[in-house]
Order: sequence, then C-alpha cells, then structure tokens
Amino acid sequence: MKIQINGRWYEAREGEMVLDVLRREGIDVPALCAHEAVEPYGACRLCMVEITHEDWGGWKGNVTSCLYPVEDKLIVQTHTEDIIELRKTVLNLLLARCPNSPEIQKLASEYGIDTTSFVPREDADNCIMCGLCTRVCTQMGFNAISVAGRGYGREIATPLKEAPPDCVGCLACVKICPTHHIQYEDIGTTREIWGRQFELVKCKQCGKALITREFADYLIENRDIPADYFDICDDCKRSGTARDFKKLVHWEEKEEAEEEVSA
Ligand code: SF4
Ligand code: SF4
Ligand code: FES
Repeated sequence: MKIQINGRWYEAREGEMVLDVLRREGIDVPALCAHEAVEPYGACRLCMVEITHEDWGGWKGNVTSCLYPVEDKLIVQTHTEDIIELRKTVLNLLLARCPNSPEIQKLASEYGIDTTSFVPREDADNCIMCGLCTRVCTQMGFNAISVAGRGYGREIATPLKEAPPDCVGCLACVKICPTHHIQYEDIGTTREIWGRQFELVKCKQCGKALITREFADYLIENRDIPADYFDICDDCKRSGTARDFKKLVHWEEKEEAEEEVSA
C-alpha cells in the first residue's frame, strides 16, 4: 500500500504505524516515547501528525503517529501550523518538567523555545515519564520498576523504593532512556543499579567484565543460549575465530605448495 506524506507517496506495510514509515523514510518528527523494541504507548504526544483521506469527505484530524496504523492512500502532514503549535506546547511543558535535560533543551530550541513559560519543577530530574524503561523491563519479563506517585510527583521507582528483587541488572532501561536519566555504575566486577549490586561474569580468557550472573542465567534458561556462551567475550571469540582462519589459510597454502613441489 502507499501513503502520502507531505505531498510525496511512500510504500507502507500492513500493520505498520505511521511513525514507522516516517522513521524509515527519514522524515523528521520528534517521538520520545516510541522505540522499536517496545509496544507504542502514546505518552509524549510529540509525534502528532495531521491525517486525512480522499474518501473521508474532507475530514482531517490530528493523531499520534506512533499509535495510528497505516491504511492505503492515507494522507499525512507532519508540520502544519496546528501540529507545530501542539509540539511547542508539549515541549514547553517538558522543559518545565526537565529544565536541565540537554536532550529536551535541544529539542525545545529546535522549535524556538529556549525558556519554559511554565513554572519549572523544583529539584527537577531528567525523567520525562515516557515509560520506555518500565515497558522494556516488563516486556523482557522482569517487572522490576514501575511508575509511582501522582501528578508532578510521579516518578519511576522500584517497589517500596528498595533494591528491586526482580531486577537482573541487564541495563535495558538505561539504554532505552531518551534523556539518560537512569544511572548505573560498573566498578571492577561489580554493577550497581537501582540500589542493587550485582557480580559481573568475567571472560575466562581476557578477564573483561561481561554481564551480570543473574542476566546470563536468565538468558541461558529462557532464550535457548548455550550454558557456556558467556564464558568468553565477543572480542576473544572473534580473535579465536581469526586465529582458526589464519591456521586454515596457512594450511591450505602449505598444501598447495607441497602439491606444486611433488608435481
Ligand atoms: S536493569 Fe533491572 S530495571 Fe532495568 S530493565 Fe533490566 S531488569 Fe529492568
Ligand atoms: S527514566 Fe527515562 S525511560 Fe524511564 S520514564 Fe523517565 S525518561 Fe522515560
Ligand atoms: S512517540 Fe508517539 S506519543 Fe510519544
């Protein structure tokens, strides 16, 4: 099927959301709470676009592109005056929530907002409450963190704000966070995240710290990964393979040379 975006036609696949096509085609629409690793949720409202269709009798409306499924001949506009105003309002609010976040400052400034017109949050952190961290943790099967509190006081937290027993220290929440709000620390072979400490498994060849024991065990048990997979790091595996190839190449060269001599 085809959809029209800003006057040009693009291929779209059944089951995709409008945002998937925008991203694939490199059409710039801010979308802070959408990530291909998790189900869309529609939390940030930044990805709003205008849609219409030749069969809709002139009706048009604004929708969140991360949640709106494509349909044949859908007509999308990404930067109408209305949409830009909506994004500016959202960014203005986000800047009040997270005035010190470089990511939010940059995005807001792209829309001409350098200072929020709302009252900035006191003791503000950089969490925009996009929910990517909780969704990725839940989708991976851990459920170690969740949203706690209400209104401006809402935050991502562990149960009873204590070291979460269900966390495996995988860092998926850290890596997916668009504002780098979630902190962790690796010191030697110890990882600390969400107030919990983990021992890291070390590569048996080079000694590099690889992954928490808990996450390695989870992957071995649930993802059909061989029990010795985490014994050796990827770099050592690669150099082992390279050494094997070198032996093979030299062995073949030796074979050829011996054949030439005997001929
Ligand atoms: S590090 Fe812990 S909280 Fe973060 S995604 Fe992994 S299991 Fe969940
Ligand atoms: S910690 Fe990061 S990923 Fe989680 S809700 Fe806040 S901004 Fe989103
Ligand atoms: S990316 Fe669509 S609402 Fe956030």
